[in-house]
Amino acid sequence: MTVTETRLDDLRLIHRGKVRDTYDLGDSLLMVATDRLSAFDWVLPTPIPDRGKVLTSLSVYWFHKLRDIVPNHLINDGSDGWPEELRPYSDQLDKRAMIVRRAKRIDYECVVRGYITGSGWAEYQEHGTLAGKPLPEGLRDGDRLPEPVFTPARKNEEGHDENISVETLENEVGRELATRLGDISVRLYQAGLEHASERGIILADTKFEFGFVDGELTLIDEALTPDSSRFWLKSEYQPGRSQPSLDKQFVRDWLSGSGWDKNSPPPELPADVVEATRSRYLEAYRLITGEELAV
Ligand SMILES: Nc1ncnc2c1ncn2[C@@H]1O[C@H](COP(=O)(O)OP(=O)(O)OP(=O)(O)O)[C@@H](O)[C@H]1O
Ligand SMILES: [Mg+2]
Repeated sequence: MTVTETRLDDLRLIHRGKVRDTYDLGDSLLMVATDRLSAFDWVLPTPIPDRGKVLTSLSVYWFHKLRDIVPNHLINDGSDGWPEELRPYSDQLDKRAMIVRRAKRIDYECVVRGYITGSGWAEYQEHGTLAGKPLPEGLRDGDRLPEPVFTPARKNEEGHDENISVETLENEVGRELATRLGDISVRLYQAGLEHASERGIILADTKFEFGFVDGELTLIDEALTPDSSRFWLKSEYQPGRSQPSLDKQFVRDWLSGSGWDKNSPPPELPADVVEATRSRYLEAYRLITGEELAV
């Protein structure tokens, strides 16, 4: 079943993001990844069937794999059934929902980069630095960094997140917490990088979010999905240019060639682009987990 917008009538919707719908369950939250897709900061009018299932199932996979590094917010992914009050909505929740512990969120994105591109590349080109720290000269877009770098960003109420230096993070949350966030994020990234690498995928960078649950530092939100990370296929990797995105490249290429101005609502995607993109998501899931997602 394709889900563009969830309708869980007896529950209270607290947030509709670009991709996920979040509901209030009291002490816990119900997070549902829909099949909406965003590109160039717009939510597209055409969903990608099963995309939300891939996002949630991948997060669940990583939450289990990474829990020795840090506890996470996952309570129930529905694989052994949903609680009574959610059963009427099973069709909309299957493989795409998680019940999670509600956390007191730390309002920073904990970004780790093992390769330089995107906003990190922009900073490096302008200042020769990354998160304020100098890097070797002569790096190209997409080059591997000498070691992974923690590059935090402040979550702003309005507008885009803002990249900040580790020093600024230390000043704002205290040195101890800033150091813990950096250390844990780099360890999570390293574990993801090594695992993906054995499966032909480069995890170029990623962002984590953390919060406190009963006073304990906890990994929240999603983990190591294509929405929170850049995945590149090793077979397509070629530093010195921007790398094709594992999941969204067909969509970006088609939109760029469609004549759309990126300042007005985007056009519907053609069926072949939808199908090719859906296959990429299922393929990414299969590569990373070694299993087919039963959809
Ligand atoms: N366990 C949790 N406790 C409290 N808040 C959480 C928890 N897990 C995730 N969140 C927050 O819930 C929200 C989920 O929103 P979501 O990611 O769907 O949309 P968004 O961040 O507003 O926009 P975008 O679609 O660009 O990501 C985020 O603000 C995230 O920080
Ligand atoms: Mg988000």
